[in-house]
Parts: sequence; C-alpha cells; structure tokens
Amino acid sequence: MNQKCKHWNYQLDAENIVWLTLDKANSSANSLNAEVIQELDSLLDRAQHDMPVGLVIQSAKTSGFIAGADINEFTQLQSESEALHLIKSAHTVFNRLGTLPFPTIALIHGYCLGGGLELALACRYRLADNDPKTRLGLPEVKLGIHPGFGGTLRSLQLIGTPAAMDLMLTGRALSAKAAKKIGLIDYAVPQRHLKNAVRGILKSPPRTRRLRWWLNLLNHKHVRPWLAKYLEKKVRQRAPKAHYPAPYALIDLWLRFYDNPQQMLEEEAASVARLIIGKTAQNLIRVFMLQEQLKAAGQLKDYHPKRIHVIGGGVMGGDIAIWCALKGYIVTLQDQNNETLARVMQRAYHLFSKRLKDRLLIQSAMDRLIADVKGNGLRRADVVIEAIFEDPEVKRRLFKIIEPQMKLDAILATNTSSIPLEELAQALEKPEKLVGLHFFNPVDKMPLVEIVHGPQTDAHIKHQAATFARSIDRLPLPVTSSPGFLVNRILMPYLMEAVYLVDEGIPLKVIDDVAVEFGMPMGPIELADTVGLDICLKVADILSKDMSINVPAHLQRLVENGQLGKKSGKGFYTFNNGKIIKPAIPKDYTAPTDICDRLILRLLNEAVSCLHDGVVENADFGDAGIIFGTGFAPFRGGPYRYIKDRGQEQVLKILQLLEQRYGERFKKSDGWDNLLIP
Ligand code: NAI
Repeated sequence: MNQKCKHWNYQLDAENIVWLTLDKANSSANSLNAEVIQELDSLLDRAQHDMPVGLVIQSAKTSGFIAGADINEFTQLQSESEALHLIKSAHTVFNRLGTLPFPTIALIHGYCLGGGLELALACRYRLADNDPKTRLGLPEVKLGIHPGFGGTLRSLQLIGTPAAMDLMLTGRALSAKAAKKIGLIDYAVPQRHLKNAVRGILKSPPRTRRLRWWLNLLNHKHVRPWLAKYLEKKVRQRAPKAHYPAPYALIDLWLRFYDNPQQMLEEEAASVARLIIGKTAQNLIRVFMLQEQLKAAGQLKDYHPKRIHVIGGGVMGGDIAIWCALKGYIVTLQDQNNETLARVMQRAYHLFSKRLKDRLLIQSAMDRLIADVKGNGLRRADVVIEAIFEDPEVKRRLFKIIEPQMKLDAILATNTSSIPLEELAQALEKPEKLVGLHFFNPVDKMPLVEIVHGPQTDAHIKHQAATFARSIDRLPLPVTSSPGFLVNRILMPYLMEAVYLVDEGIPLKVIDDVAVEFGMPMGPIELADTVGLDICLKVADILSKDMSINVPAHLQRLVENGQLGKKSGKGFYTFNNGKIIKPAIPKDYTAPTDICDRLILRLLNEAVSCLHDGVVENADFGDAGIIFGTGFAPFRGGPYRYIKDRGQEQVLKILQLLEQRYGERFKKSDGWDNLLIP
C-alpha cells in the first residue's frame, strides 16, 4: 500500500514494514519546515492504524538524510510566541514518534544534521551508511541557538553529558564510525547492507542502549553544578556570554531541568524561542544565508578543470598547491628553487596526515602533488596560478614566457595581494584571460578567496575562477581590481590605528583585549605579528599611495630591525617557540574609552568607501566577505550591518568627534551620503 504526499512517501510492504521516505518538494536537499512536520504527523496516524512490525524513516535525496530545520522559516519569525508555537508543534510530533508502540528506525546516509538528527534521535534505532559522506551533528550553536526539537534531552540521555555537550557546544559533525563509537547510532554498515540490517533489527529487536552508571552519575543533581562550571569555563574561552548566549542557555537548561524530562523539553522549546528572535541568532542566521549566496557565485555546471599548475612554491603558492591536491586535483608545482619544493612536500605530508589520517589516502594525495622544477605541467593545466614575488615587473616577465605555452582554454590566475590586474595584463596577448584568485594566509584555515576582476577580465573567466574556488571548498567573493581589493583595504586602516595606539603608550594587551571584546578573533597587534610585519608594511606602503593611510614610523622601525613578528620570534610581542608572550597590563592602568571606536570606525569608514567605489557588489556580499576574510565579529552580522544596528547618524557623529580629536584620518569617506544598507 502506497500513499504519496507532497513531501513524504508512505509505503507498507509485504513484510508489514512501513517505509516513510522524505523527498521534500522543489528542493535538492531535505529540511524540516512546518509543512513537512505536519505531514509526518498525519502519516504517523496512518502508521498507528496499520500497526506494522516496524517503521523506517529514510530520505530519497542523494545529498543525504535531512540537513536540518528550514532556515528560511527562522528568518520570518516575528515574535517569541510565534517561534514557540512552531517549536512546540514539532515537539508534539517528535514525542509521538518517540512513543510509538512498534520499533522505529532512522536509516541515515549523507547529511543528518540539526533537526534531522533530532528526528533520528526520536526513533528507537539509528542505522547509518558507513560512507565518509555520512555526517551527523547538532550544529545549531553556530546559528546562535541550541537543539530545539527535543534533541538536547534525547542526546544527553542517549550518549551521556560529556559526548552530547561536546556535540552541541562545538557544533561539529561526526562520521558514521565516530557516531557509532559514542553510541549516537546503533549500526554503521555499507549502504548495500542497510535494508537487510533493518530487517534483522525488526526480526529480533535488540535492547536499546543504556547509559553506563558513571555517565549517569555526572547527571546527578549534586554533580551537575560542578560540571556546568567546567563546561562554561571552556565555552568562555571561545564565545563570551554577552555575545553568544546560546551555549550558556544550553548548559543552564541541563543544569536546572535534567531531572524532570517533561519540564526539560518544555524549557528547551522556550529557550530556543527566546534565542532565535534575538540579535545574535538573527545575525548568525543571516551570515549563514549570505555564505550560501557566496557559494552560488561559483556554480558553472559545465566547468570541470582537472589539472592545476602553480608557479611559485613559497608561503602562498606552496600552500595553495597542497590544498588543491588535498581536494582531489592533480597539481604540478613549479619553483625556481628545488629546496623550496622539497619543503612544500614536507608541509604537504604533514597536512595530509592531519586531515586524511588513512595511509592510502595520504599516499594518493602525495601522488597528486608533483614537484615540477621545469614547469612541464604548464602545457596540460586547466588552471594556472601564479604566486611568485610581489613585483609587477617580475610577474609580467613570467606571463610573457608562460602565455604561449598554456592551453587555449586554460585560465591564468594571479594571487597578487596588491597589484592591479590591468597592470599585469599588459604583458599578455589575451589580457581577458587574467583573473585574480586572492587566497588568504593560512590557506587551509581561511575560507575566503577574492575573485578579482580587472576591467579587462572576461566575465566567463571570472565565473570559471569562482567555480574553481568552490570546487576546492573555498568561498568566492567577487571584487574589482583596486588597491587592496576588499579585505586588505578595510583591514589596513584598522591595523595602522592599532600602531598609533601603541605609539601613544597604550599597552599592547589593552589594545588587543578591546578588539577581542568587540568580537574579533584576535587583536590587531597579535594579528599583525602573526601575518608578519614586513608583509603588513609592504601592503600598507602600496595602499598608502592611493588611500589616506600614513604608515606609522614605528612599524617601519621594527621591520628595519628585523622584528618581523612571530616568524622572527619578535615583533610587537615576543614569541617563545612560536608561543606569544603578552606582558601583563600595569595594575593601576586605566585605558581611554575610545580605543574600540578608533579601531572599528576606521574599518567601517573604509568599508563604506569600498562600497562607494564598487569594490564589492553590495553590502550583503561585503558583510559576508569581511566576516569570512577577517573574522569580523560574526554575531554583529558584518560591518555594514553593524553600522545599521548602531545607527548611521550615530556612527558619523563619533567619526566627526574622532576627526576633531585625532585629525584627518577619521574624515568621513565618500559614500556615507548615499549609503544603502538593506
Ligand atoms: P614567497 O616569497 O614566500 O614565495 C615566492 C616564491 O616564488 C619563492 O619560492 C620563489 O622562489 C618563487 N619564484 C619567484 N620567481 C619565480 C619564477 N619566475 N619562477 C618560479 N618561481 C619563482 O611569497 P608569498 O608570500 O608566497 O607570496 C606570493 C604571492 O602571493 C605574492 O604575489 C603575494 O603578494 C601574494 N600573497 C601573499 C600573502 C601572504 O600572506 N604571504 C597573502 C596573499 C597573497
């Protein structure tokens, strides 16, 4: 017997098993919205009437089981009570699923995240395909909330507090094998055995998992306050309470209500309803959606490059080549220096071992990365990436040599961080082929790649470059070729202001702490030391010609003295074996109150100028680019959103005040008068 609804398919087979298959209409992936959950409710009615030997929930999508709750629905919520209503109706259905009188099984492949995993947790058993593509997790905290469909209680009951809290507080996803190890799923088997495994379970349903006694002990009401303190302390290192309330709300929920499951479920719903309409969650949800928009910038269906040739195996070129090989490309890496290539191979082995773990996978990644002193790979490459010295003349000379050897349909990308593309393109017969792929350092950690197009760049080549960036799991941000592009341009005034503050005698740690308090991942002084003061100076020098940036003499002095930051063991700070040593702030020191505004408003002022100059298409892309390129406080939604939230007038007023106090560099940039922030 078969019943097809809009999103679900209900099938009762000859063995009296109900197969409930989710195939969300008009969507390539399954997600849970009110309609999908309502349909599920009515199909559970039918199942209760049919009284099968078991009920299996599975997905018809190749991408996976269920990727989570429908985020679009979150952004349309108007009030806490509306959110609560939505969450409570899901609770009712999931609770029903959890108490059906026959065995229920979630049959999982691919993504099983957030609400999807919560649905699986409401089933009696979980069975997953052991393919590496299977990923299980509760990533809600990344959106400023915590699990809200009963997943807090059910995960804690199933796998114990340490493992469940780790999943919910970090939001990380697990493979099927790792999920089996901690008891999140019951079986991880190859895809071809899944259906037989279902029949096996239903023939003689095994006992469901019970928590070990010592794990139960951690939930005792006298133990919880201690463990809660420890968990809060760990969270505080990554996410201050004032900015990220969700993880603290989750710990509090467990601390206060774990002894009373019914009440805990009710409080879970109330807590998520409160969080979801708050500023942090709404900003993080928006950032998530902007990230999806950036991804869409790189989706040419018929573009499938195979071979990559990188020229220049230094800090950047070496790491770009390694990253491309990790992501499956055959990569030839050319450098004029043999020893440099040998060093890259060592670095590659280190990263592949860390990421791939499996010996055979590491070996085949190493095989894909080919040291190529003579540049033989150039002729066969689909994408050629230049990452040699930052010198226009040297780059142009190289382009003249390589262009005639490249395949006709290959694209030529430069990783330059500051030279306008049109200046480099002069050396080419076909200047339209040149595009910028501006990676950030360190390549394996920084998700953004600026796709730089000069006036001469062909639009199709730009899309090909963005599609290539997506294929190596980076976020492409289209920007125009202008000094510093977007990220370095807005970062530089912020870093230079920090150096002015040092010159005024403000302790280094005070400056960094203020920025971290604002929500930056690290302070500007530590950032400059980490990037390298020579690199900062070089970029600042180049930008100072076109922008109103004066390069502080202090920075020049340090570089002249060989104090380059972390890499030389000393910059602003001293480093001991790579570990930063921050001198304590003098006891009776009182910091000026305008440090934060001085740092941040210079960045905002430049961001407005970038929008005015058309460096980035719109404020949404700008917010996403600056968050993913610099780590700018994600919970604030990006610099443009921050201006809007703080009030444009208010920001301008402070800018004016700072100009009176500190001079020209705070003069409002072009663009404020016709600033349009959606
Ligand atoms: P680097 O100095 O570490 O490496 C440059 C490499 O190119 C050296 O190994 C050198 O032997 C090789 N090389 C120079 N001329 C060559 C030629 N004609 N043929 C073959 N190999 C040649 O430089 P880095 O830092 O990797 O920078 C490379 C490019 O990436 C520059 O354009 C830079 O502006 C840009 N960039 C640098 C970032 C950074 O943080 N270092 C960040 C983003 C972009």
